Amino acid sequence: MADIRFDGRVAVVTGAGAGIGRIYALELAKRGAKIVVNDLGVARDGSGSSRSAAEVVVEEIKKMGGKAVANYDSVSTMEGGKNIIKAGLDAFGRIDILINNAGILRDKTFHKMTEDDWDMVISVHLKGAFCVTQPAIAYMREAGYGRIIFTSSTSGLYGNFGQVNYAAAKMGLVGMMNALKLEVAKYDIMINTIAPNAWSRMTQDIFPPEFEQRMAPQFNSPLVLYLCAEECKHTGMIFVSGAGWFGRTALVSGNGVCTGNASREIAVEEVRDNFDKIISIEGATMHNSGAEIFQYMTPLLSPK
Ligand code: NAI
Repeated sequence: MADIRFDGRVAVVTGAGAGIGRIYALELAKRGAKIVVNDLGVARDGSGSSRSAAEVVVEEIKKMGGKAVANYDSVSTMEGGKNIIKAGLDAFGRIDILINNAGILRDKTFHKMTEDDWDMVISVHLKGAFCVTQPAIAYMREAGYGRIIFTSSTSGLYGNFGQVNYAAAKMGLVGMMNALKLEVAKYDIMINTIAPNAWSRMTQDIFPPEFEQRMAPQFNSPLVLYLCAEECKHTGMIFVSGAGWFGRTALVSGNGVCTGNASREIAVEEVRDNFDKIISIEGATMHNSGAEIFQYMTPLLSPK
């Protein structure tokens, strides 16, 4: 089979001045894509700003013979999101790929978390994905093509101590994908969510030192590049990766139990007595939209 190439494609990578985003930008450029390297150049907690993060990566791409343009806007404002997409349209005339990757951390246990800790993390990860994806989708709908990545985290998918704000934002992105995929599938716009794991400044004091090489950011990019390829028609999926392991995570529904007859009241004790069936995920099913959940209630909803 032919190699996967991105010649003629334009990719926007947010937070591409460091860590995992930098690798996406370099690897896409190596395979022919023109890149918008967005990065606000902030510290891990979102403070400060610097142009050098994006500039350095643009230079790296140019040195390899690739084409790239830097953008220094924050993802977390509507104006910033519009400017990021405009940078690609102005420089290269199109946008085919958007990787929402920019991120910060404000870790604290819930009872110590300030409103600012909450707002900052939600604004970069969750609102940021809205601010950049909306103008990208406006273009992609017209063009009839797009590949979009949201960046989640196992902290949101499964939980992590001291990251309530981050986990909420990261799981929020899954909800955003689940709804948005339905709106844009007919335009050949595919949206998937990745929960990467890598040694970066975000995690270097969390992972043990011997993970530095084994958890290099490079090990996440092959999956993300595949999801950004024209040939990839998968959408609405969640993936977890790290150290060269790639797997899928999914929200599933158990078969549950029908009680009552949809007219008589149901006692709390009936729930207690059926609790084993209610919490069972044996034979669980995935769903493509919330409407599918009604199938479980069909026996109760059908006219008698
Ligand atoms: P990193 O800290 O190395 O890079 C993040 C980049 O985003 C930085 O260059 C930063 O300046 C930029 N950025 C932050 N706020 C921005 C804003 N408002 N606008 C534009 N750029 C902004 O982090 P890393 O590890 O590369 O993480 C990348 C993504 O992967 C993040 O979304 C992170 O939450 C996610 N992730 C990373 C994991 C890991 O193991 N490293 C685990 C799970 C998720």
